[in-house]
Amino acid sequence: MDPVHESNDYMPALGGKFSKYKVNPIQLQERESGVISPKWTKVLLIVLGFALVFALGGLCTLGILYNNKLADFESLNNQHIMVSKQLSAQKINNTIMKKEFKDLTARYNTLREWLSFYDAQTCNLSVDGWIACRGKLYLFNSDKLNWSSSQDVCISKGADLVTITNQTEQNYLVSKIKEAHWIGLNDLETEGHWVWVNNQTLTETGVQFWFMDSPRQPDNWRNQDPSGENCASLGDENGNFQSWFDASCKKTRKFICEKKY
Ligand SMILES: *[C@@H]1O[C@H](CO)[C@@H](O)[C@H](O)[C@H]1NC(C)=O
Ligand SMILES: *[C@@H]1O[C@H](CO)[C@@H](O)[C@H](O)[C@H]1NC(C)=O
Ligand SMILES: *[C@@H]1O[C@H](CO)[C@@H](O)[C@H](O)[C@H]1NC(C)=O
Ligand SMILES: *[C@@H]1O[C@H](CO)[C@@H](O)[C@H](O)[C@H]1NC(C)=O
Ligand SMILES: *[C@@H]1O[C@H](CO)[C@@H](O)[C@H](O)[C@H]1NC(C)=O
Repeated sequence: MDPVHESNDYMPALGGKFSKYKVNPIQLQERESGVISPKWTKVLLIVLGFALVFALGGLCTLGILYNNKLADFESLNNQHIMVSKQLSAQKINNTIMKKEFKDLTARYNTLREWLSFYDAQTCNLSVDGWIACRGKLYLFNSDKLNWSSSQDVCISKGADLVTITNQTEQNYLVSKIKEAHWIGLNDLETEGHWVWVNNQTLTETGVQFWFMDSPRQPDNWRNQDPSGENCASLGDENGNFQSWFDASCKKTRKFICEKKY
């Protein structure tokens, strides 16, 4: 039995499904006959399993903590803006209010520092190659596959090709790659109508990062592939990694999977 494969199977158990730990009868037979797995493998697997559950539990806790802090930050931010507006508008010369404002500013700055530190930390947290970052887990696959095989691999890992929903996420992904990667966007169904693998349209997500220089993308170039360019990639072959390009779905590229945590 391959322990690496085992631990991959545990990843979807983030939601707390421990049923995956049940040993199936055939594996049990193999182990008991002692032909395939020596006894210590069992112990090692159990230890690995516990370690993984621990790590995942930690991730969940961090995620919840982060969201709570984010809510705190938003309300504090609003308070801060309101009070500073009041102060300047009414020119209140009141020592108590000034002191309150100073305290509020201090709390605000501490929380802001904490959050930015936390953001940097979360994007560095990695389990089994998956990187946790702002509510998503990303996997940067270095196998080169065509678009549909890439999506199949992501699905087999309980994930999808990545959907990019804002500038922060776009910047983060760009910072992590050094060559073109498939993303979960295509116009396979209707030419020119780009949809994400979760069926969201670009209008729905509200952002798009197509390459805007010449040749402006998407251009559905048909010179290499008569069926055109119906799959989207972050980056092209010429070193432009900051933007999206449409490309022939038959091309093989590295790819990025994502799943929620
Ligand atoms: C505002 O308060 C300071 C002391 O904190 C005082 O010196 C100043 O004269 C006050 N200004 C007005 C306009 O009341
Ligand atoms: C996260 O990792 C990047 C490089 O991958 C590094 O530059 C950065 O300092 C790290 N951040 C923290 C908070 O460790
Ligand atoms: C950007 O997207 C990420 C991941 O989907 C999300 O966690 C984050 O809150 C978003 N940021 C903004 C500013 O909308
Ligand atoms: C997207 O739409 C297709 C058919 O239009 C459907 O089969 C598929 O389940 C949908 N996917 C999601 C994630 O909603
Ligand atoms: C993608 O690759 C798979 C496996 O090599 C192949 O079966 C499939 O036909 C390819 N699809 C396209 C559109 O090239």
